[in-house]
Amino acid sequence: MIQIAILGFGTVGTGVAKVVAENARQIERKLGEPLAVKSILVRHFKDGPFRQLMTDDFTKIEEDGDIRVVVEAIGGVEAAYDYTRRALGAGKHVVTANKQLVAEKGCELLALARKKNVSYLFEASVGGGIPILHPLTQCMAANRIDEVYGILNGTTNYILTRMVRAGASFADALAEAQEKGYAEADPTADVDGIDTGRKICILADLAFGRQVDPGQVPMAGIRNLSLRDVKIARRAGYRVKLLGRAVRTAGGGRSAYVAPHLIAEESPLAGVEDVFNAVVVRGNATGEVMFYGRGAGEKPTASACVADVMEVLQQSPRREEIGWSPESGGFTDPLDLPGRHYFRVEDSLTSAAAGFGQVEVLSEDGDTAFLTETMTGREALARCGELTVLAHIPVLA
Ligand code: HSE
Repeated sequence: MIQIAILGFGTVGTGVAKVVAENARQIERKLGEPLAVKSILVRHFKDGPFRQLMTDDFTKIEEDGDIRVVVEAIGGVEAAYDYTRRALGAGKHVVTANKQLVAEKGCELLALARKKNVSYLFEASVGGGIPILHPLTQCMAANRIDEVYGILNGTTNYILTRMVRAGASFADALAEAQEKGYAEADPTADVDGIDTGRKICILADLAFGRQVDPGQVPMAGIRNLSLRDVKIARRAGYRVKLLGRAVRTAGGGRSAYVAPHLIAEESPLAGVEDVFNAVVVRGNATGEVMFYGRGAGEKPTASACVADVMEVLQQSPRREEIGWSPESGGFTDPLDLPGRHYFRVEDSLTSAAAGFGQVEVLSEDGDTAFLTETMTGREALARCGELTVLAHIPVLA
């Protein structure tokens, strides 16, 4: 019998306990031994089938030599960071879905795990149930990764879909996402692009092998996105989606940011709706590879966590991570990345054309909306000059 502990019993912790119980036969067949949850760390005891496993004392887990793997499902940084360090220090493997902790402290925790000859795995931290980190670092290991981008937040994608398709208000769509267990405890992290930002940092760290600090990465969410722009874009053959994007730049640099984008409706990303996420990885040998699936929710996220648990128990030797250097220099300001830009301005098309020259007009009927030619964001903003900009959205090439 292999025993594990779960820290935290919210959406992810509950999902892990359920998947371990419900899929016990398949898991045992693959591991060659039964897997069982021995302890669940909680702050408040809850009635139900797992009540007898609950404790509020982390020391009992830390000192329990029978517990080989700890699933950290607390979220946030403070307690989660302390318990993860103590669990790794006690020689236990740690598995997590905690993107904030991985984005901020992942490099350090991987180094600690290496020192203690155990693993720290976090497949569920990006893309929920979609396998992405393992394919990125293992299956695509022969590539130089040049770009990673995608729809990385289920809550905002759900909100955008419900607003566009069902005419739901922002508040109602957010409440539905919260009820379904997709949203963060504080949904501003979803809505303001911070959750996507943490995930794109992790993808960039692993894709480029160097630390991208969340503080370096501009993050814009969907709070200020106007339905008017969504409709203009739609009529012109584009969808608006919140993307995280990380790009390798000249001279060994890299850049990353989060922003709503216009995406041509022929692009596979344009059809990614509801809670679904999709991540595109561009390798220099593979070209673009896309990963698609449920990016949030109890069981999909638990699926990725439990698979990591099984991996740390099976692997021999331990999975050699991923070059992830703490060096964080060489970050290019995303304003210097080239691309096309959507603008809606208060002024006439003639005034807009005076600044931009050639533009593709999307609307001049009440709204002045247009797409620029390819130029950096910095140049596009400079060319706006005296124009009153109502919306500025980059276009995915
Ligand atoms: N709040 C996150 C989302 C959960 O909506 O995608 C999964 O990370």
